[in-house]
Amino acid sequence: MIYKYVFGKPIETGAFVMEIQKNEQEPKWMRLTKTEAGILLSCHMDESDVVYGLGEQVRGMNKRGFTYVSDALDDPDHTEDRHSLYGSHNFLILNRQEQPSFGVFVDDPGRVAFDVGETKLDQMAISAGSDCVIYFIEGESLKDIAKQFRKLIGRSYIAPKWAFGYQQSRWGYVNEQDVREVVSGHRERGIPLDAVYLDIDYMENYKDFTVDPEKFPDFAGLACEMKDQGIHLVPIIDAGVKIEEGYSIYEEGVEKGYFCKDEDGKEFVGAVWPGKVHFPDVLNAKAREWFGGKYRWLMEQGIDGFWNDMNEPAIFYSEKRMQEAMEEVLSMKGKNMDLHAFFHMKDIMLGLTNSPEDYKSFYHDMDGVRVRHDRVHNIYGYNMTKAAAEAFEKISPNQRTLLFSRSSYIGMHRYGGIWTGDNRSWWSHLLLSIQQMPALNMCGILYTGSDLGGFGSDATEDLMMRWMQFGVFTPLMRNHATLGTRRQEVYQFENQEGFRNIIRIRYGLLPYLYSEYMKAALCDEMYFRPLAFDYPKDAHAAKVEDQVMVGESIMAAPVYTQNATGRYVYLPEDMLLVRMKSLKEKTCKRLEKGHHYVDAALDEMIFFVKKGHALPLAVLDNNLKSTADMKDVSYEWICFGDGPVEYVFYEDDGISKNYTPQEKWKKVTIEG
Ligand code: GLC
Repeated sequence: MIYKYVFGKPIETGAFVMEIQKNEQEPKWMRLTKTEAGILLSCHMDESDVVYGLGEQVRGMNKRGFTYVSDALDDPDHTEDRHSLYGSHNFLILNRQEQPSFGVFVDDPGRVAFDVGETKLDQMAISAGSDCVIYFIEGESLKDIAKQFRKLIGRSYIAPKWAFGYQQSRWGYVNEQDVREVVSGHRERGIPLDAVYLDIDYMENYKDFTVDPEKFPDFAGLACEMKDQGIHLVPIIDAGVKIEEGYSIYEEGVEKGYFCKDEDGKEFVGAVWPGKVHFPDVLNAKAREWFGGKYRWLMEQGIDGFWNDMNEPAIFYSEKRMQEAMEEVLSMKGKNMDLHAFFHMKDIMLGLTNSPEDYKSFYHDMDGVRVRHDRVHNIYGYNMTKAAAEAFEKISPNQRTLLFSRSSYIGMHRYGGIWTGDNRSWWSHLLLSIQQMPALNMCGILYTGSDLGGFGSDATEDLMMRWMQFGVFTPLMRNHATLGTRRQEVYQFENQEGFRNIIRIRYGLLPYLYSEYMKAALCDEMYFRPLAFDYPKDAHAAKVEDQVMVGESIMAAPVYTQNATGRYVYLPEDMLLVRMKSLKEKTCKRLEKGHHYVDAALDEMIFFVKKGHALPLAVLDNNLKSTADMKDVSYEWICFGDGPVEYVFYEDDGISKNYTPQEKWKKVTIEG
């Protein structure tokens, strides 16, 4: 049951698809107070209560013990003390032992803070603005609450099947030779690969919807050559449009009035990669249609996948504040600067980036209504992605297009996925990515994954190997790193055969992973779940922070610590331990419910199969290059049952949008 409360005059965010009658009675789940700052919700938490959700935020699966703030931020330091990352996912479930559990969703595109027991260990307090909509959800179980929420917000985006293959990215592939080299690096070693990403260097001076003709003299030809090899090129699109005379997108945007404006009605000037930019006003329907239409040109060159970036929007500096900062810093010239003066000077420059002051200084024209950006900050990235998705519906209505974004808000999951942004090559970030996945799934964001191996810092071979073993399960399986770090394409490391085997295991598991993804998307379920969702009566399951259910049959328990040659695993019931060094070297062993130490050599994957469940494993040709080679695969089965076990799997062409016909679901009975 969903209860809706409306306060003030909320801005429509596009989060939900289901209309619900508003409720006038006092909410019974949390105490509601109206303060000058807005709406405050609070409630007591018992010691055994667990809080799940909040999407991308840092820290564990159980969110207790910290304050999380939805305030979309481009921050490459995903450390424990960070209150905000790129996305705003204002949904959580309070899992209570003594009383019924409930979910709460705060639909407010401005800043919302979730103090989940930081100020007082046993108190949760949520503060939102005065104009917002709040939903409380009751259900029979955690799964049921999450499912009802998903019904409210609509069906998750479905990526083309090739986007479930392995993908390689790096900021630093600058020309077509670099792309070809990456492809042959994989092909020559028999490592399957489905996509190569083009980061900002493919553009001409970082101008959206341009391709540098010197570095890519025949872009359409390259896209075609790549398709022939089973490779999709995926270019990045940034939010900021370079200010440059003669650049048609800039000129058109100014002429039509489609950029965000400052207080005086002039185009707001921020700066990102290309220097000074304007931001398309994607909260305006016409501007959104205009900006989305620009993707067409790249699609006509053979592109069928995009990643939208810097769409919090990230602002290195604004023209106005840079001027003020420069003046202040220059006024210090020649002075003997003491502690205070020196650090003040540093802060002036550092404070220019993503400054809350800038977010208060420009405006959107929300179809006739002028709205200051900070009021709607958290739905900017969502709307940039919606712009693209709406355009794809027109440009390529019958085919799926890969699309994911850095910034997001609940509701964007209908249009695309996300990646978790600029993590680091740290073991702690491997664990963080495991913990982020179920929380994102709760919010409908199913097509997701982290930069495998870590974006910043140098990846070591063992970290890469372990991260890849978890990446086998994430729908987006993309290796990405930043400029200047150690090269981390898997063939750069010594144990190339080991990496090849792990990536081939991903392809072997694809029929299962894809089926489970489709079930989750089409039936509003979670592909990744914390253990407590499947084992609600098991008090210990709710304490497990480093294992996750993947689809209906698998429990993943990745190794995520340095030098570990195994790990402790908690089994909430008897399970089948599957060890795989490769598709051929596979062993299965029954283990009893309880705690176990399970060995896992560095190049060995482990995972578990639930009792009474099975999964298909594709039998792959030794020369498999990409998902394109998987048209007529046969299957073997991994099965854990004392008698026959049923598995329903989903098969389609992976590209058209006709998802629902019954013949796509196939029920198979496997002898246990
Ligand atoms: C941002 C993105 C990152 C990308 C870089 C350059 O930091 O998060 O993925 O590589 O910009 O475009």
